[in-house]
Amino acid sequence: MADNIAERISRILFSAEQIGTRVHEVGEQIRFDYANGAAKDPKRRPPLLVCVLHGALVFMADLAREIPTEVEYDFISVSSYGNGTSPGAVRLVKDLDRPIEGRDVLIVEDIVDTGYTIDYLRRGLAARRPASIRICSLIDKVPRRETDVQVDYVGFPLEENAFIVGYGMDYQELYRNLPFIGVLKPEYIK
Ligand code: IMP
Repeated sequence: MADNIAERISRILFSAEQIGTRVHEVGEQIRFDYANGAAKDPKRRPPLLVCVLHGALVFMADLAREIPTEVEYDFISVSSYGNGTSPGAVRLVKDLDRPIEGRDVLIVEDIVDTGYTIDYLRRGLAARRPASIRICSLIDKVPRRETDVQVDYVGFPLEENAFIVGYGMDYQELYRNLPFIGVLKPEYIK
């Protein structure tokens, strides 16, 4: 019988309730901003939420339901090259399904850490000439930033240097299904 993965967590940083409250606030802010000048699409199409797979899937699903107005979705996936051999090198694994020229794009990410991933995505999508691009990240590891990318919407800034899992975020592809965000016990880190 499989064990309960919640027992592998040493410390909960953000409970499901805290996350729910904050996601609601961020969703409302996004709705307000796009109704008040953030939307630049001359054709006035709904904002396009671009979910960065796989980490942002859970956040995206909840956030979209907290934006009580028209939005569309698309999905993109990237991965980092190597482990420290070429820091900041990112490659596209799955592209968007549709063109974004003229659209209002909101990139939805789980964590901005050094910022290389989101910088790569922002530049790549900006080259397709959307009307606007904004970035929303559930977690912003502020002290770890190595790029000057601007994050427009942040769920929770994280000052401490912790590796976190849950609510979409993984360690070796596990723990994405935890409903809260926490730190793994050391014995579960290989
Ligand atoms: P960056 O390119 O250094 O900003 O890294 C961003 C990506 O690294 C995120 O999208 C996550 O997939 C991953 N990442 C960074 N920190 C953590 C963490 O604490 N837990 C899980 N994934 C993380």
